[in-house]
This record gives sequence, C-alpha cells and structure tokens, in this order.
Amino acid sequence: MTDMRSKTSVLYTAAGDGEQTLSGYCFARHRAGDAHIVALGVRPDRIRLGVGSALLSAALQNAKTTHRCGSASLLVSVNGGPAIALYERAGFTKGARKPSYFANGEDALEMTKGL
Ligand SMILES: CC(C)(COP(=O)(O)OP(=O)(O)OC[C@H]1O[C@@H](n2cnc3c(N)ncnc32)[C@H](O)[C@@H]1OP(=O)(O)O)[C@@H](O)C(=O)NCCC(=O)NCCS
Repeated sequence: MTDMRSKTSVLYTAAGDGEQTLSGYCFARHRAGDAHIVALGVRPDRIRLGVGSALLSAALQNAKTTHRCGSASLLVSVNGGPAIALYERAGFTKGARKPSYFANGEDALEMTKGL
C-alpha cells in the first residue's frame, strides 16, 4: 500500500498483480479528534477480495496512531448495501438518516465508530 499524506487527507493505493496499479482508495479527513471517511472505492475487477476492508482498516489505524483520533464517522447512501455491510463488519453502527443528502436525491445514513 502506498500512503500519500496531505494536511487533511490520506490516500491509500493497493498494488495488484505485482504492479503499482490502483486497486482502491480511501480518503479520510481528520478534524477535532474525528476521522471522517470521505470516500472509499475499489476497482470493479477487484471487488470482494478484501481490498476495501484493508484500505479502511489502514485509514482508521493511521487516524488513531498518527492523528490521535478517538472516533470515526461517515455518510453512506441508504442504497449502498455492500458499503453498509463492509462498514458494519468493521464495527461502525448506524445513526441518523439524512434525507436527500446526495446530489442524486438519495438519503444518507450516518455511521460512527469509536477508535
Ligand atoms: C463497497 C466497496 C468499497 C467494498 O469493497 P470490497 O473490496 O469489495 O470489500 P471487501 O472485499 O473488503 O469486503 C469486506 C466485507 O464487506 C461486505 N461486503 C462487501 N461487498 C459486499 C456485497 N456486494 N454484498 C454483501 N456484503 C458485502 C462483506 O461482509 C465482506 O466480507 P466477505 O467478502 O468476507 O463476506 C466496493 O464494493 C465499492 O467500491 N463500491 C462502490 C463504491 C462505494 O459504494 N463506496 C462506498 C461509498 S461510502
């Protein structure tokens, strides 16, 4: 995994097939002790291989140890079944629903986790 840091975000890329190709990414913004997962995505031909959970785990570990975050949060589409399943498996719990949060009109579900 490659870790490119900026002041407010972390980008992880996972190499596949021995090459430095992008398999997925996870951006986190660290603010006031909370790591907000801004984006998580995995290449369609690499899904269900553990890439997403590995990226999320690395981002949360980095938030905890480097940025001293005590919690993590995110907003996910209520229709994002695979993502919600991944986050629940990672220990996130469902919170408030935010109506029409996304540009396409979909509701968002807030999810949080202690680190
Ligand atoms: C959601 C996403 C990041 C998951 O990445 P992934 O690399 O396929 O996930 P993993 O292989 O690490 O899966 C970890 C666990 O999450 C759950 N999960 C993942 N995809 C799932 C699916 N399609 N259906 C049900 N559960 C799923 C499972 O519990 C899985 O463990 P298992 O394979 O041992 O059963 C990926 O599907 C993706 O990029 N989707 C489009 C973008 C997106 O929705 N991003 C999230 C926005 S907040």
